[in-house]
Amino acid sequence: MTSVLVRNGRIITATDDYIADILVEDGLIRAIGRGLDAGPQAEIHDATGMLVLPGGVDAHTHLDWDFGVARTVDTFATGTRAAAFGGTTTVVDFCNQGAASPLGALEDWHARAATASVDVGAHMILNRVDDEVLRDMRTLIQREGVTSFKLFMAYPGTLMLDDGGIFRVMREAAEHGAVVCLHAENGPVIQVLVDEAVAAGRTAPQYHEATRPAILEGEATQRAITLAQLTGAITYFVHLSASQALGAVTDARQRGQSIYAETCPHYLFLTREEYERDGFEGAKFVMTPPLRSREHQDALWLGLRTGTLSVISTDHCPFCMAEQPLGMLYSKQQGRDDFSKIPNGAPGIETRLPLVFDGGVRTGRISLNRMVELLSTAPAKIFGLYPQKGTIAPGSDADLVLLDPAETWTVRAAEHHSRVDYSLFEGRELTGRVRKVFLRGQLIVDGATWLGRDGMGRFLRRTTSASSDPR
Ligand code: URP
Ligand code: ZN
Ligand code: ZN
Repeated sequence: MTSVLVRNGRIITATDDYIADILVEDGLIRAIGRGLDAGPQAEIHDATGMLVLPGGVDAHTHLDWDFGVARTVDTFATGTRAAAFGGTTTVVDFCNQGAASPLGALEDWHARAATASVDVGAHMILNRVDDEVLRDMRTLIQREGVTSFKLFMAYPGTLMLDDGGIFRVMREAAEHGAVVCLHAENGPVIQVLVDEAVAAGRTAPQYHEATRPAILEGEATQRAITLAQLTGAITYFVHLSASQALGAVTDARQRGQSIYAETCPHYLFLTREEYERDGFEGAKFVMTPPLRSREHQDALWLGLRTGTLSVISTDHCPFCMAEQPLGMLYSKQQGRDDFSKIPNGAPGIETRLPLVFDGGVRTGRISLNRMVELLSTAPAKIFGLYPQKGTIAPGSDADLVLLDPAETWTVRAAEHHSRVDYSLFEGRELTGRVRKVFLRGQLIVDGATWLGRDGMGRFLRRTTSASSDPR
């Protein structure tokens, strides 16, 4: 039996804050207390002065993701290693139905996810609905541990489902207690605005933002909430960025609907002014929804404080700025002369915890407990992983992050572990740095040293049961 003792750290969960030792045996937390004795063979780690947090759960990643005309640059090996260095030990990644059946798509996803070095779950993106798809949904939920489905209200002609399709999926999900994740933007109206902008020669990256007004995120969010009300589906809005959408979620929650929403670090720490950068630089920030104004950002912080927003995920969807060495399929250069051809998405898997600690906790916007809830506990609960993941308690997986709250460092893409060639936060000075990361009791990150192994991550068969009482 392998024993690990993490001594004298300041343990932070969503509710507690105390100094103690953590005894780990066979990958699980066995005991928590003062002066624990682990025996002579134990591996001892002194955590004095460190915050000890439950491993992060990132519920929104696109690793090795086929976006049709583009493909994300991180494999499961590189993306999950980057996640670990950022204090994330679980990712729930998006499997794309594409042209296959959902079950066929999952098989393909498993083959690619086999190199993951942190634990992984899968959401299924449905871009087509028929009787076979609805049957597959049942099998995914009951047999495969895939208990959440993402639907797009944007990208007509490729990923978008119409309202009838959304209604059918929601009705099926509601019957089984599964979660429906929504990308809420009014795709058809955005398409008109995009076509008009391109036809008028407005082709620079800044027009990406100009053609995706916040009000169209609000409209789609409200429409999906109405369908959720009709069907009773547990609904989770991904990458929420607009105050109108937040307002719709607030009202729905007040009515007692099971509605949840996440936002992402880029909406909390960056604004639309980034699109005014010279030349093609604004392409770095081309993700959907786009960055918004300061007013929207202030509303998001309020939503995090008051509980309307339940989760902060990364939406890690990385494409390189340069064409080489990976090639045009992986590059933003596809849209050099036309913003509508820039692959939509941005990196962020490695910087979530340090950004939220520095810009959220240190600035007094949220508490340490709330940070843990947003980055780990709530996503674990909503997506059926709690209490195996998302907390520090006897019996839980020993996924632990030691964060030095005093160390100051500078974000540099060149020092990241992702294959992407830029960071949205290049040059930003942050205080608070991940020093050690344990996955099921095994030390995988020790300062700058990688001790993990490709393929050591396990597939997580998720339940639906823990989603009954998320904050
Ligand atoms: O721009 C983004 N967010 N790309 C990833 C796909 C999605 O909508 O989540
Ligand atoms: Zn989306
Ligand atoms: Zn996404």
